[in-house]
Amino acid sequence: MAKLIIEGNKELSGTINISGAKNSAVALIPAAILSDEEVTIDNIPNISDIEALTEILEYLGAKVSRDDTLMKIDTRSIVNKPIPENISAKLRASYYFMSALLGKYKHVEMYFPGGCKIGKRPIDQTLKAFEALGAIVEEDNNKYIIDAEELKGTTIYLDMPSVGATINTILVACRAKGTTILRNAAKEPEIVNVETFLNQIGAKITGAGTSEIKIQGVEKLSSGFTEVIPDRIEAGTYVILGALIGNNLKINNIIPDHIRSLTSKLSEMGIPMTIDNSSITISKSKKKNPVAITTLGYPGFATDLQQPVTTLLTQCQGVSLLTETIYENRFQNVEYLNKMGANIIIKDKTIEIYGPTNLKGCEVKATDLRAGACLVLAGLIAEGTTTVTDVEHILRGYENIVEKLTNVGAKITLEK
Ligand code: EPU
Repeated sequence: MAKLIIEGNKELSGTINISGAKNSAVALIPAAILSDEEVTIDNIPNISDIEALTEILEYLGAKVSRDDTLMKIDTRSIVNKPIPENISAKLRASYYFMSALLGKYKHVEMYFPGGCKIGKRPIDQTLKAFEALGAIVEEDNNKYIIDAEELKGTTIYLDMPSVGATINTILVACRAKGTTILRNAAKEPEIVNVETFLNQIGAKITGAGTSEIKIQGVEKLSSGFTEVIPDRIEAGTYVILGALIGNNLKINNIIPDHIRSLTSKLSEMGIPMTIDNSSITISKSKKKNPVAITTLGYPGFATDLQQPVTTLLTQCQGVSLLTETIYENRFQNVEYLNKMGANIIIKDKTIEIYGPTNLKGCEVKATDLRAGACLVLAGLIAEGTTTVTDVEHILRGYENIVEKLTNVGAKITLEK
């Protein structure tokens, strides 16, 4: 397992350019399967989750070429064979292959998807949507065999606005016969990115970004081009860093509206920042007010920023409250923040953070992607040396993290 070694307490200034969104790119790439021609996607981030998806595409026989951020995918040579567990378990997004292959071939065989161990993460809503559209789902020992004689549009109501189930339903329904109405859909910007791409190549989808999405099935999807939106979670992570130790740290190439739930909390804390069309410039401030945060689906406070923002809450003056409503097990970072000197108490779904506390460097473990990001931020503000282990989790979602941080003045190295 790789390690990050961080010498903390260095002021950061300059510009961090944000990469394409992981959670968009990981849906757009499997979505390419639905096309009957070659598609081109730009602003693909250079992270290990993309390598894992490319491995699945190539295993199925697709032609994939990559030139920096540009990816061309030609799936005309695909053979729809079962996807083995060792590759599907590498990431959560492998389940977008379930829907793309089902939509195109009316048959798919693959295993339960992987992803960070932050809760149970069932896929019942996705399977419910597949069945409503006419598929028969068989499950045996984590393996799913899904078949449909015909896929037919219908009305589907999700029990919760699941991002995965929303995208999976869109992917299948756009190749079904007739119209599908998806109610209580998730509203995340990544879903809008998927809608834009599919419409670009011939789909007929409206309503993404709202809780009701209408998908008219089409017989064929063709070639086309799309761009991955900026990663709002990477952006939010570095904005939080700017609030901690920035000196006019500019977070560039972002859509500020996508992280408004974060910036409004920073304003409540009393942290000044300048928000432009595509950047936020932010500096540390001496006094930070404590706040209460509850995670919610978009446009609420993103669960993926909950762990990174915890580091900032350790520096607020007074008691902050943070409630996690999406996942059952997303406080694994707390043990390590406390090891560094934080004072955080877990009470069921809420943590109480007593601040400010001086953090001191020590060895900590990235138990999952965003816990890792939280601990990198903690290492960057701590006195002394912090070693973050199990860094593979972080490299799944943060492109060139060492280079981006070094360029703005951080002392951080990766040991493989
Ligand atoms: N849920 C169910 N049944 C389902 C689907 C979801 O009970 O069929 C529950 C989940 O257990 C979870 C909640 O609903 O408690 C939300 O799950 P959702 O389906 O929205 O999440 P996801 O599609 O598995 C994506 C991102 C996550 C992000 C969530 C919420 C990808 C690949 N992953 O996961 O990203 O936390 O949406 O925004 O897009 C990350 O990047 O660190 C990450 C975990």
